Amino acid sequence: MRKLLNKLLVKFGLLIIKAPTLLTDKSLTTSDSFPLALTEKVTVDEATDTPENELFDIFSADTNVHKWHHYFDIYTKHFEAYRNYPIRMLEIGVFRGGSLRMWKDYFHPDSTIVGIDIDKTCKDHEIADRKVFVRIGSQADPDFLAEVTAEFGPFDIILDDGSHKTHHQNISFGALFRDALTDGGCYMVEDVHTNYWLKHVDSEDTFIDLSKQMIDMLHEPYFDRKETDFRHGHPDAARHMELSYLAANIGSIAFYDSIVVFDKKKRVLPKSELR
Ligand SMILES: C[S@@+](CC[C@H](N)C(=O)[O-])C[C@H]1O[C@@H](n2cnc3c(N)ncnc32)[C@H](O)[C@@H]1O
Repeated sequence: MRKLLNKLLVKFGLLIIKAPTLLTDKSLTTSDSFPLALTEKVTVDEATDTPENELFDIFSADTNVHKWHHYFDIYTKHFEAYRNYPIRMLEIGVFRGGSLRMWKDYFHPDSTIVGIDIDKTCKDHEIADRKVFVRIGSQADPDFLAEVTAEFGPFDIILDDGSHKTHHQNISFGALFRDALTDGGCYMVEDVHTNYWLKHVDSEDTFIDLSKQMIDMLHEPYFDRKETDFRHGHPDAARHMELSYLAANIGSIAFYDSIVVFDKKKRVLPKSELR
């Protein structure tokens, strides 16, 4: 009964629950299945170079934007393909507006860049005549997110750089992935190292936990199946399957240090063939 009540309170944002036991600020639990050689401590050195890409140059030329250096190679890898045509981008978390300007300078000049933030003063960072818009509201409010999507969406890129509260990351993904992101679009959540910092963990599952579950969902077609169900030309080969929306629409999930990226892609059933 208490568990159910807590679940409801958490769902409606009324209770900050204690973090899952595996999460801790200080230590990492690893499975005994790893060979010791792969988990023993080795030295990692500080970065001495800055990223060498155009986006980092744009970042460096402006102020009032806060990004980690190692994100720039990741952004470049995932966003480069969206530069040749006008896109719609939604960034959760405006802060001082620098990142909205950075995206504007990086993507096609006719692109629409939309920032949302809970802080009313962020409205000052709107540059409507350059198609940079700011709307004020919470990333944890699905109605607000639906309004922003109706006004500007669907988006080719959604970047969550908002509160970094796990509860908020989960709600935003739940509210936006299906209806606010185009097929072929990219959903990126950054600063997920905060999922391991207790003060940011306010949900039973962190966003990293959900992302790990989505790795399983990516493989949902294979649950309770055999290879011939997928074999090209085989009489047992399935022609249709009932899969969860996520299983049917996630093309790939990429994990980096502090960033998770989802490429949205309407899937068809996999086929195998021996030649
Ligand atoms: C890390 S900053 C954004 C940084 C900015 N994207 C940049 O790169 O410079 C996080 C922002 O999220 C905003 N924020 C906090 N809680 C929020 C919420 N519930 N909904 C939307 N934005 C929120 C804060 O006001 C803050 O401006």
